[in-house]
Amino acid sequence: MELIDGKKVSQQIRQEIAEEVAAMVAAGKKRPHLAAVLVGHDGGSETYVANKVKACEECGFTSTLKRYESDITEEQLLKVVDELNNDPDVDGFIVQLPLPKHISEEKITEAIDPRKDVDGFHPANVGRMTIGAPAFISATPQGIVDLIRRYNIETAGKHAVVIGRSNIVGRPMSVLLSQKGIDCTVTVCHSRTPNMKELCQQADIIVAAIGKPGFVTADMVKPGAVIIDVGTTRVTDATAARGWRLKGDVDFENVAPKCSYITPVPGGVGPMTIVSLMKNTLLAGKKAIYK
Ligand code: GUN
Repeated sequence: MELIDGKKVSQQIRQEIAEEVAAMVAAGKKRPHLAAVLVGHDGGSETYVANKVKACEECGFTSTLKRYESDITEEQLLKVVDELNNDPDVDGFIVQLPLPKHISEEKITEAIDPRKDVDGFHPANVGRMTIGAPAFISATPQGIVDLIRRYNIETAGKHAVVIGRSNIVGRPMSVLLSQKGIDCTVTVCHSRTPNMKELCQQADIIVAAIGKPGFVTADMVKPGAVIIDVGTTRVTDATAARGWRLKGDVDFENVAPKCSYITPVPGGVGPMTIVSLMKNTLLAGKKAIYK
């Protein structure tokens, strides 16, 4: 079994981005600029956004954090989006999800200019990705593809089982895995799949993205399979300084000895998600997707 070191790979990619940005600046070009919109004080969102701002600094990007209280109205937030759409200095921006219940995430996502949608959540980018056209691709699935590529994991003709069908991870992941060049045969499992265990037992690659800690157990895994764990549930842990730790969707202890490759939590997919957002921001700065 080999551990897939997302921290190490993400640092390599971050270094490559920083070198490219330094060359751009030396050539008199502007630094890519990422803006993040954070509504309210959700613990997870605070951490994600702080990590994104830090990653921007490490890549040599300009970053702006725009914070609003959770009583901001949908109309006011749409105005913020409109301002960012029209700010020529901002190359790309994200609105951190989840949003308060009184705001439609769909409406906000669709209001973002697809040319600045570095999260890749806008239907225009989802559609482009689906037909294999240039697009901003959702950061977590893109990061997983990069991990698989950098570890030279064989994918052509392999059976990939994706557990979860979220718009952010499961669904785009299933599309990317089936695309030309990756060439997996893909099964998408979800809460209404009756024979999940049998399907997983047939998988060469499992991507677990359902947010249920320890869901994928050793009896579900074929010997030698590749296991990608997207789960990041906070579970209470009295021995941890913060009182909690992150737990993945995979029963790591019992699954790891059975498989060929596995991503740990933390240090697997998580760091790749952030660096994929940085990659998209660089593409936005270079106007490389929408010319
Ligand atoms: N919430 C959880 N993951 C993400 C992400 O990748 N982007 C945004 N905007 N919100 C999120």
